[in-house]
Amino acid sequence: MIRGLPEAFLRGLEDFPEDALFEGNADEVAALGRDASGRRGEAFVGPVVAPRDAEGVAALLSLATRTGTRIVPVGGRTGLSGGAAAEPGEVVLSLHRMNRILSFDEVGRLLTVQPAVTTQAIQEAAKEHGYFYPVDFASRGSSQIGGNIATNAGGIKVLRYGLTRNWVAGLKVVTATGQLLDLNRGLVKNATGYDLRHLFIGSEGTLGVIVEATLQLTDPPRQQQVMVLGLESLDAIVEVFSSLRRGLMLSAFEFFSSIALRHVLAAGARKPFDSDPPYYVLAEFDEDEAKAESLFEACVSQGLVCDGVLSQSGGQAAALWRLREGITESLAQYRPYKNDIAVRVGDVPAFLERINILFEREYPRFEVVWFGHIGDGNLHVSVLPPPGWSREAFEEECERVTHKLGELLAEFGGSISAEHGIGLLKRPYLHYTRSSAEVELMRQMKRVFDPAGILNPGKLFAS
Ligand code: MLT
Ligand code: ZN
Repeated sequence: MIRGLPEAFLRGLEDFPEDALFEGNADEVAALGRDASGRRGEAFVGPVVAPRDAEGVAALLSLATRTGTRIVPVGGRTGLSGGAAAEPGEVVLSLHRMNRILSFDEVGRLLTVQPAVTTQAIQEAAKEHGYFYPVDFASRGSSQIGGNIATNAGGIKVLRYGLTRNWVAGLKVVTATGQLLDLNRGLVKNATGYDLRHLFIGSEGTLGVIVEATLQLTDPPRQQQVMVLGLESLDAIVEVFSSLRRGLMLSAFEFFSSIALRHVLAAGARKPFDSDPPYYVLAEFDEDEAKAESLFEACVSQGLVCDGVLSQSGGQAAALWRLREGITESLAQYRPYKNDIAVRVGDVPAFLERINILFEREYPRFEVVWFGHIGDGNLHVSVLPPPGWSREAFEEECERVTHKLGELLAEFGGSISAEHGIGLLKRPYLHYTRSSAEVELMRQMKRVFDPAGILNPGKLFAS
């Protein structure tokens, strides 16, 4: 169970409280070393340390730095890039015992929470206080705020509310040497030099471990309405987006293909309308039935849209959302190879045309499922393994094509990871988005916060 760990670390661990170690069975321990990326390395065998507070985290990290022990911090493990994957010879730092909502500041509308509070629990707490936490995605029930912050999670409402970064008003972080930093403390204005808080947001657990977050809440939106539209061509997507955005207060504008719809229907969702167009968009907006109908008609008369449905109740809106939010789960059984990419929204039509040509040429035998948050320029591509291919050959082929995709993204100034992070899986493609000067500066920053290189080693860039 302790194969490959430094003796000095194991001796130091004996001074920890008796219950600091998570005592699960082999399957439970192995699960804590895996995330939702589907990456199958050698199974993690322990140990798992599960501190109860920031002091426990600091004690573990300072021992790890002194003894050169590799630590992998984990939360809800819903990440899709292997950012929370651990292997034998590493120690998992599980934050699951730090799962309390700590306080609410009514005047500042600030909610202070421990890292293992789920996204959904934060949304519900905000609602109980009469406010709104707007970051949202399908894994809301199991994703945790520490991981959301560590990956600067995006999701379905980025178009209107931005990413997790926009909602972090304060952060307590323990660096790799065990130093506790209390960053920004919920201040709105704080013009005192480098804002280290933002350095930790999106750092994928490579610089420090988040032990507390103070989140900004906002006013709840008006009643929302959802519309799903059918489109005959990819070109129409951005034209429809521009026209809906001019007339409605959009909070989401999502896209999926008929192939994605087929999978989600097979998993039990209901078809939105009788016709079978090749592409679909889902728009969510502040309720305005008359305006939505007139925009729909205008899009139909311009030949952009061929069919559509507008929700008449919360239940119908949820059923329409299922068509988009259920895609990932409906594909999970196939263990798809995933790309999560972004370009500037204005570049989406030209990019879609090029990526379409690229995939038709490079993936003649694989099923490619397209969907995503097209209103913020983010496209998800899930490639399904065809029968008869070994996993290894399939992944090798997808990796070859991802290099070509990286070249195309570099041409557009786009991103090889829009919202899933780099982790382990996207590391070979980082250079398509970040220059070597940038990567070198990131490495230098890593050395400042983590001089012994013990925190989430190998994630983001090679250790
Ligand atoms: C989504 O938007 O559904 C996700 O980010 C997950 C995925 O790419 O599978
Ligand atoms: Zn997404």
